[in-house]
Amino acid sequence: MNTTSSSAYNYKVVRQFAIMTVVWGIVGMGLGVFIAAQLAWPALNFDLPWTSFGRLRPLHTNAVIFAFGGCALFAASYYAVQRTSHATLFAPRLAAFTFWGWQLVIVLAAISLPMGWTSSKEYAELEWPIDILITIVWVSYAVVFFGTIIKRNVSHIYVGNWFFGSFILTVALLHLVNNLEIPVTLTKSYSVYAGATDAMIQWWYGHNAVGFFLTAGFLGMMYYFVPKQAGRPVYSYRLSIVHFWALITLYIWAGPHHLHYTALPDWAQSLGMVMSLVLLAPSWGGMINGMMTLSGAWHKLRTDPILRFLVVSLAFYGMSTFEGPMMAIKTVNALSHYTDWTIGHVHAGALGWVAMVSIGALYHMLPKVFGREEMHSIALINVHFWLATIGTVLYIASMWVNGIAQGLMWRAVNEDGTLTYSFVEALEASHPGFVVRVIGGTIFFAGMLVMAWNVWQTVRHTQAAEMNAAAQFSLEGVH
Ligand code: HEM
Ligand code: HEM
Repeated sequence: MNTTSSSAYNYKVVRQFAIMTVVWGIVGMGLGVFIAAQLAWPALNFDLPWTSFGRLRPLHTNAVIFAFGGCALFAASYYAVQRTSHATLFAPRLAAFTFWGWQLVIVLAAISLPMGWTSSKEYAELEWPIDILITIVWVSYAVVFFGTIIKRNVSHIYVGNWFFGSFILTVALLHLVNNLEIPVTLTKSYSVYAGATDAMIQWWYGHNAVGFFLTAGFLGMMYYFVPKQAGRPVYSYRLSIVHFWALITLYIWAGPHHLHYTALPDWAQSLGMVMSLVLLAPSWGGMINGMMTLSGAWHKLRTDPILRFLVVSLAFYGMSTFEGPMMAIKTVNALSHYTDWTIGHVHAGALGWVAMVSIGALYHMLPKVFGREEMHSIALINVHFWLATIGTVLYIASMWVNGIAQGLMWRAVNEDGTLTYSFVEALEASHPGFVVRVIGGTIFFAGMLVMAWNVWQTVRHTQAAEMNAAAQFSLEGVH
């Protein structure tokens, strides 16, 4: 039960996940800056296996997606489901277990990935004993979340919970199917799939990790925090339901766009391309619904940096879900694939959408679960907003320039059919972009440090207020 406010909701687990979101955000993005620097200055690999780019890159992706993004989703869903269901969390001990279990998964990832223990499937690198732990934690999460929905005290299930629910169910299915593997030792297993089937299953997983972990879950967050922070109802409830069903129906088919021009049958590639193009509509349905929720409240953007985080995250969501369908067109993908354009697209979604919506949600939620009116410093939230926006723009712009230069240089041929540029020449041309990315990443990371300080001050003063209240109480008891 919550101890710092009179509310009956279970805020303890929300507080724990919220604080760890900031901590893992700093760790994961710090690693991002480091691997970005390694690409610009390879000497930073230090000739050691544990600090090599190959081992730290999956550590970065796991840390930002599952540790930072995962903790943000746990915190936001536990907070929103209680408030929209007018009920405290079902099975509070199980909820506490999900917190400690998830932290254990993260710590095991942080040990095993630098050691080189990996199943070598992107975003599913963790070896089989950790996969089993993830399954146990995830099933517990589903029990707590859906148990709370079942015991709700209002008849209706708020649309944000539909998105959270689909994210929890689909991630369970993706994790189980893609990680079917035969253990050889405690730290090594082999996938039960082979060849093109393995590739197809992996990218069915990979793309839907984007669709359900990085999209549906964060749309659930958006549907709760944007209306709350704007003080307005959702623009169109009907649109939210229509785009929900369209989004979850279409995402599942789009995976093959990761495997254009590979051994995958051509018809499967074309199907993936068409489904990706159609996916633009439900994605923009969500973006427009979020943006239009601000109708009549636009003036609040001038003074409210939390709302700015939320609205700019929607703008980046709209941008990356326009770019994605374009990149899924086979002729465009022929240029963009394997280049930094993909990396730019990823971070438009990851920094611009996922990180910014999470940061906005945290600034809204943190004071509430710590029993305070607002964050310690609103001015610092504004500073953070600008650091995050400038950092994201520098990151993606440098990767667009690099990606298009790489794609064009790789395909340039002389009249006699030989290649105009060697690979190393394309790499040299990419160096300035790599340096700009380090600068952009460092600026974004600096924003996270500002956030950590602001959160620390908010929490510290809460504790001080609690101690004063306790002292007051004991004094009153004496008299
Ligand atoms: C300070 C912020 C960040 C920096 C500097 C950074 C940097 C990097 C770098 C250098 C790579 C490797 C690129 C390559 O192999 O060429 C990478 C990959 C990746 N990062 Fe980040 N990153 C940051 C934040 C994030 C966040 C917040 C997320 C997710 C929420 C994220 C998700 C990813 C993903 C999914 C990949 C793999 C992309 C792919 O395989 O195509 N990153 N990042
Ligand atoms: C309508 C929505 C979207 C479509 C159709 C789409 C499409 C694509 C395409 C075509 C690629 C390049 C595949 C390749 O050449 O290898 C890609 C890569 C990627 N996209 Fe998207 N995208 C969408 C939205 C998003 C969003 C919102 C995010 C993040 C929050 C995201 C994250 C990623 C990641 C992480 C990769 C890299 C995967 C890898 O190779 O490791 N995408 N996407």
